[in-house]
Amino acid sequence: MRALPGFRDFLPEDCARRNYIFSRWREVARRYGFLEWEGPPLEATELYKKKSGSEIVEQLFNFTDKGEREVALRPELTPTLARVVAAHEREFKKPLKWFSIGQFFRYEKQQRGRLREHFQLNCDIIGENDLAADIELVALCIDIMRAFGFTERDFIVRISDREFWTDFFHDKKVPTERWDDLLQTIDKSAREPRKKTAEKLGDLADSVFAALKSGSKSARLEQLVQGLRARGLADFVAIDVGIVRGLAYYTGIVFEVFDRAGKFRATAGGGRYDNLIAQLSDGAVSMPALGFAMGDVVLGELINEIPRARDAKRKAIVNDSRIDIYVVIAKEERRSDALAQIQQLRDGGYRIDYPLTPTKVGRQFQAAEDSDARVALLYGDEWPQVKVKNMGTGEQEPVAHDGLLAHLQAQLSLSS
Ligand code: HAM
Repeated sequence: MRALPGFRDFLPEDCARRNYIFSRWREVARRYGFLEWEGPPLEATELYKKKSGSEIVEQLFNFTDKGEREVALRPELTPTLARVVAAHEREFKKPLKWFSIGQFFRYEKQQRGRLREHFQLNCDIIGENDLAADIELVALCIDIMRAFGFTERDFIVRISDREFWTDFFHDKKVPTERWDDLLQTIDKSAREPRKKTAEKLGDLADSVFAALKSGSKSARLEQLVQGLRARGLADFVAIDVGIVRGLAYYTGIVFEVFDRAGKFRATAGGGRYDNLIAQLSDGAVSMPALGFAMGDVVLGELINEIPRARDAKRKAIVNDSRIDIYVVIAKEERRSDALAQIQQLRDGGYRIDYPLTPTKVGRQFQAAEDSDARVALLYGDEWPQVKVKNMGTGEQEPVAHDGLLAHLQAQLSLSS
């Protein structure tokens, strides 16, 4: 029996890697004053049909539940956020700055960087029209990448404005029914053969290619870059109108994060979706909104690719997975004394391991080393003293058992 295609088993090491990513995500989002929230993993299929766009709807893991409801495992968080915010609109002061870490499901063709489940950090700001919010959001996205050890040489945030294209369609008198399809085609144009894109664009092909090539800009985009420059972050961004985003609900500034070498798919993406809350609440609540999501799959690949990021990850994981104390029970008569102290020390917050059954002393010390314990405590002939061994220096000293906690508090804080 194996996991289904596109699904992962998380063995302890994989969990350590995942937790490393989650803790950096959470730490930086909190630094920006974002509050954590969460939605349900299963939603009415209708929620995604209404406004996410055809690509995501084709990728839904959906079924009819036992109550005859059409339901889907969530492929993304934004529609849930819009639903929740519309329902609780009066309870919170605006703007809301919310983040969430969770698992998402898309029935995609499995390929590098794309699985059928993945984890995302979502950061969204609700209820703010000002460009200051867009600048803050892009800055947050950059700082999250920096927290993993990436520099401006490793990644780039490509920023665009959907209004550039909607104005363009307007000028060319393209009927609005065609806009979504055209935007999807432009979004895919960097990844698809030019001929295929040209066929899909039809009569607009030449002018779209010309616009993509000329690197057109807008005053709003310039202002956004200026805002990032004031924070010393301009080297992390580039204006690129080829970024459109595959999801249908975006209305203004959109952006995606790519590795500089162009080896991987996007690590993160987002933008403004000022109409989604009104659309999903049938006009009951209307609020401007913007946000982005960063996925764990591409990010994990990029961390492994960049030595600085890989090292930072390794160090953090080693530090997080080590235990503080390994208790060596050299004399079985001392087991109950040792267990009583283990209980006390665990209450004191220490991470402790010990052999559950009688084990040779040599193997116990080996286990202490394998678990990277900082200290080994030896319960044996010295009782009522306990021998304290510093696993880093190899130094040993006997300590009276009733003074052990104070002694360890001094020693373990020193060695950390
Ligand atoms: P998205 O671009 O569809 O945006 O996904 C965000 C990120 O999730 C992608 O850049 C990618 O790293 C990761 N991702 C997406 N699908 C997969 C997959 N099948 N396997 C692995 N990783 C994947 C959204 O989901 C928007 N709801 C983001 C947003 C939040 N917009 C506003 N607020």
